[in-house]
Amino acid sequence: MNTAQFLVKSDLKFVDKASYTWQTPSNIALVKYWGKHNPQIPKNASISFTLNNCHTITTIDFVKQQKSDIANFDLFFEGKEKEEFKPKIAEFFNRIEAYCPYIFDYKMIINSENSFPHSSGIASSASGLSAISMCLMSLEQEMNPNLSSEFINKKASFLARLGSGSASRSIEGPLVVWGKHPDIEGSSDLFGVQFPNKVHPIFSNYQDVILLVDKGEKQVSSTIGHNLMHNHPYAENRFKQANENLGKMATILQNGDIESFINLVESEALTLHAMMLTSNPYFILMKPNTLEIINRIWEYRQEKNSNICFTLDAGANVHVLFPQKEKENILQFIENELSKFCQKKQYICDEAGFGGKQI
Ligand code: DP6
Repeated sequence: MNTAQFLVKSDLKFVDKASYTWQTPSNIALVKYWGKHNPQIPKNASISFTLNNCHTITTIDFVKQQKSDIANFDLFFEGKEKEEFKPKIAEFFNRIEAYCPYIFDYKMIINSENSFPHSSGIASSASGLSAISMCLMSLEQEMNPNLSSEFINKKASFLARLGSGSASRSIEGPLVVWGKHPDIEGSSDLFGVQFPNKVHPIFSNYQDVILLVDKGEKQVSSTIGHNLMHNHPYAENRFKQANENLGKMATILQNGDIESFINLVESEALTLHAMMLTSNPYFILMKPNTLEIINRIWEYRQEKNSNICFTLDAGANVHVLFPQKEKENILQFIENELSKFCQKKQYICDEAGFGGKQI
């Protein structure tokens, strides 16, 4: 695997001070990443819709200092210093040291905020780590103006992956594949790539309404979750199935076979949860209301001949996916029939988006 391409090769022209702000989104996987080995290499390829409204905005102020051994940074989340978030970020900076040695020449002040409510059960690691990675790449570009925007996105995704696997899929959009796969040209275990083929118009501006069923802390951290796959009796078959599903999804996205899309997306969601149900220790991350919602989505789909479907993350919230042309009717259905299963009737309307932007 060619990681050498991400080392800093030319002499950097250090600046005394700099400040960059990036807004980067969350994403929702259609074929799931669940299982990895060191260093942050996925056991199977995954594909996600990049979201648009659920995002993190991060500013990093860099001030030149004498080179230090450990990353020197302060971290503020929604204006308040957050000591408890620091270890994960410190570990991230250590992991990327070989690729971004310059960060140890700077004092960094990181200010971050999410567009979605705090502890809504929506993972913020993807948007959070992709935003930090883009800020680092902005600094690198300022010190080495020869870098192409293509390389910047690729390296940002490579760095983000080292912080959180799914973050590698949050730099670009609307469809990103992470993990080497024979059907996806240019795909890599090291970084995410935009889905390279022409996508059928039915998947343009695809809608995702996130029903906040349980806003509590996640029961299983992703690190614990991925580790559960190490001694899992079904792991090898799951990785094989996921890669086969990614191949099928690549075909579906091009030919617009929406029935197969629905079948595959829902099966992936339930399989992810099946892996947790059948691991040891075992977990049930769905709540009764998750099942209520799923059943109502199935009823609605049948009664109205709709293309509505659901997917799940490693939690109880339900992502309701549907084509843009059904937006009006389905939003009404969600408000009238599904919102009562959400905590405080809360849900977030989102749609596929195009990745990070500098502000
Ligand atoms: C269920 O990317 O959060 O959301 O690499 O340990 O940070 P780490 O894991 P993370 O795992 C996400 C798993 C998932 C499925 C997916 O997004 O593909």
